[in-house]
Amino acid sequence: MLNFSTKELDTLTKIINSRRDVRGNYFNDKKVSNKELKIILESALQAPSVGYSQPWRFKIVKNKSIKNRVFKQFDKSYKKSFKKFKKRPLYKSLKLEGIKEAPINIAVFYKKNKKQVLGQTYMKRSGEYSVVCAICNMWLTARAMNIGLGWVSIVKPKKINKILNISKEHKLIGYLCIGYTKDFLEEPELKTLKWEKKKSLKECILK
Ligand SMILES: Cc1cc2nc3c(=O)[nH]c(=O)nc-3n(C[C@H](O)[C@H](O)[C@H](O)COP(=O)(O)O)c2cc1C
Repeated sequence: MLNFSTKELDTLTKIINSRRDVRGNYFNDKKVSNKELKIILESALQAPSVGYSQPWRFKIVKNKSIKNRVFKQFDKSYKKSFKKFKKRPLYKSLKLEGIKEAPINIAVFYKKNKKQVLGQTYMKRSGEYSVVCAICNMWLTARAMNIGLGWVSIVKPKKINKILNISKEHKLIGYLCIGYTKDFLEEPELKTLKWEKKKSLKECILK
């Protein structure tokens, strides 16, 4: 049995605690090699998945004109959300993506299994949760490699499928922006800007 030392646990905790959502104003020009990208993607394949269904699919986007089209989609959705957040003027100043700045974008999809999946009979969305687990692995692995990753969800999934020419049996779970970063913020930006407060463990434990 493989046992880990407390030093290794400390390292894992450090990686978890220093993972940040990296947005466009932080990416720099340093190239992410194919070898590095493969390490990040392979980490996704190690994620747990309901009934070992491995329902994740990845579309890697590097092409500038495709990124521009995705960005336009984001921008439309972002501007539409202004109304919802009009009581919070800070919204307008937030940078909430890095689609064009990040050298690599990855659209991560859920592909429903044609066969019955063990464990998914009652909780139908457990396949989608499995894809989220894969994204978390990628996020932490990238952080351990000092590579930034940002998750964009302010897009209409169907429009993204269309731009990327991906069939509708693939459901978009997350649109990721990946690249080296000039810095990792010490704490979540939305905390620093007082958009949200950090919850304590006590607040998260139900009585
Ligand atoms: C499902 C999901 C969707 C997210 N969507 C966005 C997004 O559209 N734009 C953005 O700037 N950040 C997005 N984030 C990042 C969160 O804002 C961020 O994780 C949170 O503020 C905590 O900051 P940290 O990740 O730097 O610790 C998303 C995160 C998750 C898990």
